Amino acid sequence: VKLTNNRTYLDFNATSPLSPSVTEWLAKGDFAFGNPASIHHTGKQARRQIEQTTEFLYENFGLDETQFDLFYHSGASEGINTLVKGRAEQLYQSGERLHFHSFDTDHSCLVNLRPSLELYGHKTSIGSVTKSGEIDFSKLAREFSPNRPALMNLTWVNNETGVVNSLEKILELKHDKGFHVHVDGVQAIGKLPSWRPLHPELEAYTFSGHKFGALKGVGFSFVKKNFLFSPLIHGGGQQAGLRSGTQNTEGIVSLRLALQDVISAQDPIDQGKIQSFAEEFIRSRLSEVCELVSNDARERALTTFCLRLKNVKANTVLTAFDLAQFDLSSGSACASGAVAPSRALMSMGFTDLEAKSTIRLSFSPYQRLAEVKEIFERVEEILLRFV
Ligand SMILES: Cc1ncc(COP(=O)(O)O)c(C=O)c1O
Repeated sequence: VKLTNNRTYLDFNATSPLSPSVTEWLAKGDFAFGNPASIHHTGKQARRQIEQTTEFLYENFGLDETQFDLFYHSGASEGINTLVKGRAEQLYQSGERLHFHSFDTDHSCLVNLRPSLELYGHKTSIGSVTKSGEIDFSKLAREFSPNRPALMNLTWVNNETGVVNSLEKILELKHDKGFHVHVDGVQAIGKLPSWRPLHPELEAYTFSGHKFGALKGVGFSFVKKNFLFSPLIHGGGQQAGLRSGTQNTEGIVSLRLALQDVISAQDPIDQGKIQSFAEEFIRSRLSEVCELVSNDARERALTTFCLRLKNVKANTVLTAFDLAQFDLSSGSACASGAVAPSRALMSMGFTDLEAKSTIRLSFSPYQRLAEVKEIFERVEEILLRFV
């Protein structure tokens, strides 16, 4: 995607530009500004707009509102912290402790909440992944014991590698072992051939607006009514007490507009061709300088290409791309912008150096094959300087 500043943006897993309907709607400037909790007409207008998004989300994700609650929040970090810590707090109140199982391939918002659980005596464990970054299901069954309530996070699509973990597979195991599952679905929307309907047998799902063209600072979680959790944010009891605070009406409207855009623009057949083209290009034209990470995973997102550089560090290559007007990331940037080895890649068995030497190209659901072909010609030109 060429931006108005003439840069080629290949970092959709980090965040996305606003989708066309959101931009159009914002430009009109005609917002329902009322407090959705107010009982006057202006408040009701805002409430109605939120309800429209809520109805749309239930319908589009195929979940039933008699079985699932839906709450809005400021994004996936908050949604996930709410569900995991909130579940632990619920159990704590009744004298029980949670077993929380997650993976080092998960996002930092899952990994970095472990210590706050341990502080209250909850158990945390870290699951194994294969060399290609998939959950190692052969070892997973052994992790759970019948006498402790357990919650596992499954990251549906990995943000660095694009590796897809199977929801069907976890369902089988869940039936046997009886643990709860939260699905981090942040990177799934528009990036898999099929990302809806959602499985009604898994307990919770979290999504974030800025990853699919909605405003930043807004996201939503579906959670089964029998998955009891204490809210993270206490206050005026909005959203049935699940998340207090006046709702972000504009953000919530943008979720619906952006999702409608993704649904009508996504062409999984063209995306499939993009994936095959890119894989073949990397193999045949770029093999001297890099290789595709997780190439032998069972399934990868259609839009993510994580490249392990053979002779050069990510920083150097990213500078060359930056100067050539390309925006893309290394798999391993830490919050300060310095290159730290990627925790996710290290957990897949990469060495420190290898885990510092990856770059990631991530495309939008709107991307078309012809444009990708041109982009890869330019990518080749830049990368082959580092042979
Ligand atoms: C897989 C995954 N989970 C969670 C998050 C956190 O999302 P947010 O920025 O909405 O807090 C991200 C964002 O990078 C992500 O990629």
